[in-house]
Amino acid sequence: MKIVRTKNELQKAIQLLKNERKAAKVGFVPTMGALHEGHASLVKKAKQLSDIVVVSVFVNPTQFNNQEDLKRYPRTFERDVHLLENEATDLLFYPDVDAVYSDGIPEIKVDLNGLDQVMEGQFRPGHFEGVIMVVSRLFDLVQPDIAFFGRKDFQQLAIIQQMTNKLNLQIEICPVEIFRSDKGLALSSRNALLSSDEKEEALIIVETLKFGARLALTEKDGQKVKQGMLDYFSKGDLKLEYLSIVDSNTLQDVSIIDTNTTACIAAFSGKVRLIDNYQLV
Ligand code: PAF
Repeated sequence: MKIVRTKNELQKAIQLLKNERKAAKVGFVPTMGALHEGHASLVKKAKQLSDIVVVSVFVNPTQFNNQEDLKRYPRTFERDVHLLENEATDLLFYPDVDAVYSDGIPEIKVDLNGLDQVMEGQFRPGHFEGVIMVVSRLFDLVQPDIAFFGRKDFQQLAIIQQMTNKLNLQIEICPVEIFRSDKGLALSSRNALLSSDEKEEALIIVETLKFGARLALTEKDGQKVKQGMLDYFSKGDLKLEYLSIVDSNTLQDVSIIDTNTTACIAAFSGKVRLIDNYQLV
């Protein structure tokens, strides 16, 4: 695997691979490092669906609304390289802030149809502006044909799909299923900040989501299912930030649960913020 740090190196290396392989389809997996099996599953999917796989590792400062969170974000570069080599990644793009934002911070205006106003958008002001800024910039640098995003960041995925459509980018967005531990905890780079006891406690999130899915088999009233889930969640030790039952496309709260409904949770274990989601029914 080749590691490149600048726009020039990146674009040269991609061109070289295209020439060598007489193949053109570039698959891209953007990450913030601290890689785990969930990321490995994104790379595996990218290997299946493209000829050349580019992964970026860049802890994007513009998407952190909380400077403490940015400072604490786990950085495990050596291990990341190892994991990516094991997955036979072709190219690792590991830029510094200048290489990404050298032309200044791009101002991207996209009508997100309210997708950014709820849930994460409410509790992490500015977060999605930062995500859009960096993803559009990375798309510009890598020029992929297909890009891979995990469903764990369910709202981010919806927003990136919307951005790609609105900006008319010729990039296919490929969602990848949530990767869970044997016990069901959604894998996240932030899990590295949890002790093993805290990981056990954090299972209340997925258990509450599964409880909601069971309830929703017979109860279609969104408010009642939400209340049931809130009661269930309160048996655990985590601090809830939000629990929302939303339409999977519009991300607006639903009053009636149908087959296009997703339950989303954000909660704190100590200072560590965790999110997860589950399709109900
Ligand atoms: O999901 C992430 O890790 C980040 O939000 C992303 C898409 C790499 C942008 O920094």
